[in-house]
Amino acid sequence: MCGIVSYKGKMNAREVIIDGLEKLEYRGYDSAGIAVANEGEISFEKRAGKLSNLEKALEENPIAGHVGIGHIRWATHGAATDINSHPHLSNNGRLAVVHNGIIENYRDLKNELEEEGYTFKSSTDTEVIAVLLEKYYENDLLEAVRKTRERLVGSFACGIISADEPDRLIGMRVESPLVFGLMEDGFIMASDIPSLLKYTRDVIYLENGDLVDIKGSSFTIYDKDDKKVSREVKKIEWSVDAASKDGYDHFMIKEINEQGPAIDELLRVNVKNGRVDFEEGSFSRQELSSIDRIYIVACGTAYHAGLVGKYAIERIAKIPVTCDLASEFRYNNPFIDEKTLVIFISQSGETADSLKALRLAEEKKAKTLLITNTLASSMDREADKSIYCYAGPEIAVASTKAYTTQLVNLYLLALDFSIKLSRIDEKAYEGILEELKKLPKKVDTLVKDDEAIKKFAKEIADKASLFYIGRGLDYATSIEAALKLKEVSYIHTEAFAAGELKHGTISLIEEGTPVIAIMTQDDLVDKTLSNVEEVVSRGARVFAITSKDDERIEKISDAWIRLPQTLDILYPILSVIPAQLMAYYTSTAKGIDVDKPRNLAKSVTVE
Ligand code: M6R
Repeated sequence: MCGIVSYKGKMNAREVIIDGLEKLEYRGYDSAGIAVANEGEISFEKRAGKLSNLEKALEENPIAGHVGIGHIRWATHGAATDINSHPHLSNNGRLAVVHNGIIENYRDLKNELEEEGYTFKSSTDTEVIAVLLEKYYENDLLEAVRKTRERLVGSFACGIISADEPDRLIGMRVESPLVFGLMEDGFIMASDIPSLLKYTRDVIYLENGDLVDIKGSSFTIYDKDDKKVSREVKKIEWSVDAASKDGYDHFMIKEINEQGPAIDELLRVNVKNGRVDFEEGSFSRQELSSIDRIYIVACGTAYHAGLVGKYAIERIAKIPVTCDLASEFRYNNPFIDEKTLVIFISQSGETADSLKALRLAEEKKAKTLLITNTLASSMDREADKSIYCYAGPEIAVASTKAYTTQLVNLYLLALDFSIKLSRIDEKAYEGILEELKKLPKKVDTLVKDDEAIKKFAKEIADKASLFYIGRGLDYATSIEAALKLKEVSYIHTEAFAAGELKHGTISLIEEGTPVIAIMTQDDLVDKTLSNVEEVVSRGARVFAITSKDDERIEKISDAWIRLPQTLDILYPILSVIPAQLMAYYTSTAKGIDVDKPRNLAKSVTVE
């Protein structure tokens, strides 16, 4: 939920840290702060609001030093105020910490420390870390961090500095992500890769429980049992451009436009010689034969990809699939055992509910497979198998290219299972693969077809509510389309199975209510059209997203988009694109910060 950046080296820590925090704004943006250790003191500045507020404050108070820590916050414990912003300092002001995660036992620790005479300024869980560090500090920061770590329950990635050891920086990773970059003249640690890219490509993905002790110009990594360990240095292949706007006004529209090339790249890697080939990422024929049911578990947009995945796997591979929200799955006492395969979908691979659900599935001895965009993420390390989306960094809070690449991977997985289990004939298998390969060009055409969408977006910008309707796969797309619109435009948007309207919802339709109807499925178009007629006769303004060249649709709709042709089963990959554009243009028409909608964060690492 929050992002941290720590630096030690020859450059001005303030500049490196602010630059790194800018790249983490997708993780939270309701307050930010920085602290540096210099000349026997810790200087700090922190501000509620966007990072620009902190930057302004730093113009007045240009703190400088060669070792420092920074934080960008998405409030969980305590409101977004200056005082609750990180870094948090110990009572004597000689130790400072930034923290991403949650300290679950902070209340008990706070009571204990208060009884011992320590005081607290903030309502955060993090401040207990700073105070514990002071309690345990005896001229050795590493020892104080170790003792503090033993007392903490929860998830925490931290950067820690001490005024008494200004040549030292410590990083600590328990559950929450932390990557460690090796620069020519220094070291940088951050919650995610984009903060590092400007400075280095050489990165260590710290393991759960690791401590990094940077002293002078060298560093030592200790594992959870305090043993010295060496971790593999990996080369990051992304370009800096991949994590910057690259001429677009916003990350969301850049990422919408990147979907064609992203799908193309995914197919290039995961399809070889006319065959789906996940290499180690999938299960063998023998392993699949022992599976009698599949669960797909995820949150938000990734869950919506799962709804399409259920349909694809059931239709193509003929295995029964239950799709569940990670936050529900964990408490539903799911019926899983060693014959169950649980497929997790997570762009970040760090979503707390999904990660905990993965652990539950593993405890119950199910086989697990992850579809993710983030190599070496926590879920990637823990799942039995992983399949990657190769979409490049997704920075906008609203997920777009991660969704379409997740869909493509789910179709490929359905094909992989079906061919291994002999549940599809060669011709049908090849036919679906061929059509998938034609999609990148169709997606490229579709992202440019935005005139009618821009016009309708302006019209709906001041509406209080909107409805998406569809049947079958179009209903699954409607659910994702509705989430996209509501999260970035703040218009109350609901998706309804078109056939359900008359069982209650139609009472919400009045003169001028916008309804977007998705109609791509041959066997369902006529039925959905009847539902469109029902809402039109009650005053709805209708926008159609359709694959059909059908006069009836044009006549009844106020505006429409015609999708390029593909197989019915593959339409979710195309029909979501106009919906993403609709969300983007409505949000920008309303002047909303589309990449950072209110109350949200990109990576949801709290339950
Ligand atoms: O990183 P994940 O795919 O696990 O994230 C899941 C959801 O938080 C995410 O898809 C969220 O719903 C997006 N903001 C939707 O655009």
